[in-house]
Amino acid sequence: MRLKRTHTCGELTATHVGQEVVLNGWVENWRDHGGVIFIDLRDRYGKTQIVFYPQYEQFYPLAKKLRSEYVIAIQGIVRKRPDDAVNPNLFTGEIEIEVTDLEVLNESAVPPFEIKDYIDASEDLRLQYRYLDLRRPKLQNNILIRHQMAQFTRRFFSENGFVEIETPFLTKSTPEGARDFLVPSRLHKGKFYALPQSPQTYKQILMVAGFDKYFQIVKCFRDEDLRKDRQPEFTQIDLEMSFVDEDDVMGVMERFVQGLFKEILDEDIAIPFERIPYDVAMDKYGSDKPDTRFGLELQEVTSAFKGSGFNVFRNIAEQGGYIGCVVVDEGTRVSRKQVDDLTAYAKHLNSGLAFVRYRNGAFDSGIAKFLGQPEQNALTTILNLPQGALLFFVGNTDREFAQTVLGAIRLRLGEMLGLIDESVKKFHWIVDFPLLEFDPEEKRYVARHHPFTSPKLSDINLLDENPAAIKARAYDLVLNGNEIAGGSIRIHRKDVQEKVFQLLQIGTEEAQRKFGFLLKALEYGAPPHGGIAFGFDRLVMLMTGSQSIRDVIAFPKTARAVGLMEDTPSEVDEAQLKELGILVVGKKK
Ligand code: AMO
Repeated sequence: MRLKRTHTCGELTATHVGQEVVLNGWVENWRDHGGVIFIDLRDRYGKTQIVFYPQYEQFYPLAKKLRSEYVIAIQGIVRKRPDDAVNPNLFTGEIEIEVTDLEVLNESAVPPFEIKDYIDASEDLRLQYRYLDLRRPKLQNNILIRHQMAQFTRRFFSENGFVEIETPFLTKSTPEGARDFLVPSRLHKGKFYALPQSPQTYKQILMVAGFDKYFQIVKCFRDEDLRKDRQPEFTQIDLEMSFVDEDDVMGVMERFVQGLFKEILDEDIAIPFERIPYDVAMDKYGSDKPDTRFGLELQEVTSAFKGSGFNVFRNIAEQGGYIGCVVVDEGTRVSRKQVDDLTAYAKHLNSGLAFVRYRNGAFDSGIAKFLGQPEQNALTTILNLPQGALLFFVGNTDREFAQTVLGAIRLRLGEMLGLIDESVKKFHWIVDFPLLEFDPEEKRYVARHHPFTSPKLSDINLLDENPAAIKARAYDLVLNGNEIAGGSIRIHRKDVQEKVFQLLQIGTEEAQRKFGFLLKALEYGAPPHGGIAFGFDRLVMLMTGSQSIRDVIAFPKTARAVGLMEDTPSEVDEAQLKELGILVVGKKK
């Protein structure tokens, strides 16, 4: 390379006029204006307009052959642009470079899409050519912000006494409730490592080892159904602290979030965040990660349907189930077509959705014909209905299920009616989670977080009598309807841990096999401890205003867990399989 850059493409302004400079970068926007060639030269720092005049005969013909994404080096003189050509939207918009020398460093095949924001190329194509996609300013910006966030994170936790410690990737199954990714062992045929779903067990053991405060920015691996905010490998900001209670962990996290938003977005976030008990979140929003930027709160109307002529709801009410309602005050804002769409959405969630309109003091359409006078009176009293309201109902014998469906309908309505103010940031903690949840398939209780989460000390006596009522010392942090962090105070005493395993029907042998190393460590003076983990990718997604977690990860997988660029997962050589002692059965051709 003959011409090495003196400046970047995002650097030159009017103060450099007259200087001789060398720039390196990619060709964007080739334009020929009556023989004078204008090119925007781009690198990650910005863009600079460079100009080729025909009188530079030794390289002008070469300049004519430049195409999009060629990599070039140029030498030239910084000139002030004519007043009518100044681009106030570009940092370098006051100047251009009159090129006096050109070196083509590399050609480029014709890119399958243009390198600019707001392209209509499919995401699959973009992922396949991720290196081109990543040249787009928006993605470059996301990755740079991610870097700044990681740097702030390291600085913050380090300054607050946390020690960054790496934990293994080749490990044993960890209990976060997803499927494991397994890695076969060559040396121990038939045995497998599991990639960690989180460093949960290790960070607890680091507390037993006396490190007091641990943190790590760490990859976690979970084989679960993917959504726009989930990836099979994702990054956590993971921490654990000794001799603490909930307030300590939540307090550190609040200060971290506040510092992060100030540093990265120059936004002032008020702390402490409101704490909403799980039951309240479910009752009001039908979600344990509620979006509280808008109203449309759920209201329970079960009592209105006791003895009702509307059989479905009467049965639910009489069987101790739940019937909830969301009221849209100005019902005319929702069209019949939108009601149908919501009904189809509820169906997709395996539920029905009933509706009725309230106008001129009477109910009509939807389930109106089933509502006798007593239900009508009860509904108007409970709901304090305005004229013109539109009511949506979901009922089920399973309270949580009905609330969850109605919560999803609430969210759709909020989006549909434009009730969500995107400029607002609503943080809150969800606390007082149930410790356990009943798994109808397995017909047993499972841990809602993980089996090392401590029950509330005041609920310990319920361990035998009423396990479903036990609350956990767990907390989730929610931002605008996204769960961005979750953690808990752990069980540090062996007797309590054994009790919880009993409830979860994890037998002694199974507990030993799965977590024996942790249980053993807990026997050797484990301090009271607790921690939390942030979903780092989700946080970057929200802080960069991105729609998908894939837009903030350099090399993400598709929703089908495929790496399109590198073509993974892929088949391996027979020899490799043989060495691992693996025989693949039922392989799709
Ligand atoms: P949890 O399972 O709640 O807790 O995970 C913590 C946070 O990680 C993020 N997250 C994900 N992000 C992207 N893709 C995924 N597949 C994914 N799964 C989870 C979420 C979530 O809030 N060991 C415990 C933490 C603890 O108790 O300290 C744990 O992993 O934002």
